[in-house]
Amino acid sequence: MEDFLEQMRNDHKDFDHGSLEGNFGSQPFELFSTWFSEAIETKQVEPNAFVLSTVNTTLQTSSRILYLKEVMEEQFVFYTNYNSHKGTDLMHNNTASMLFFWPNLQRQVRIEGVCAKVATEISDAYFASRPRASQIGAWASNQSEKLEDRSELEHRVEAFALQFPTEVPRPPHWGGYALLPTKVEFWQGRPSRLHDRIVFERNADQWEIYRMNP
Ligand SMILES: Cc1cc2nc3c(=O)[nH]c(=O)nc-3n(C[C@H](O)[C@H](O)[C@H](O)COP(=O)(O)O)c2cc1C
Repeated sequence: MEDFLEQMRNDHKDFDHGSLEGNFGSQPFELFSTWFSEAIETKQVEPNAFVLSTVNTTLQTSSRILYLKEVMEEQFVFYTNYNSHKGTDLMHNNTASMLFFWPNLQRQVRIEGVCAKVATEISDAYFASRPRASQIGAWASNQSEKLEDRSELEHRVEAFALQFPTEVPRPPHWGGYALLPTKVEFWQGRPSRLHDRIVFERNADQWEIYRMNP
């Protein structure tokens, strides 16, 4: 494996930087939206998947993949179980980072900020739009808690399916978080490791925009 890893080298192609050079905008949301659309157009696998990192009370960082579900009022929204590990982390320390990687485009976007639960009506509306099986799953899974075996989970699915034969209400422990960004970095891979790094940093109500060394 070491030999293989040593030989792996990717000199990035020079992409058309029309969307980046001299066209950053005054806040990061337009550029995020452009890059996100381009990730979809270029058939990126799971373009809305990102890594969320949180920190627990013993300062241990942990990361996991989630789906971005909305960008709403300049906040990045995702849905999860509020009692999960990430939910517990966020209850004690609401700072978090989100990381998108779109390899087809040699791009990453790093977002730092603070998370808050979205309004219950927003979680209700999104929950109602999910397929029934996912709704039942949200009730059945005590996310991040130990499970005796797979059948324990399957029995819980059956029990909740019987409990909610028609409409499935949103579990109170399941809903959205919105991350309000304080810093967003756009990274574009370029040849010879001379990559572009454009940072938007929030200072009061203004976004400071600067480049960083690659
Ligand atoms: C592609 C992908 C998408 C995922 N999307 C979500 C999601 O939107 N919400 C969620 O709670 N977990 C999602 N997961 C599962 C999480 O990665 C994680 O296992 C789970 O949320 C428990 O994390 P925690 O124990 O750190 O709280 C996804 C996993 C993958 C691989």
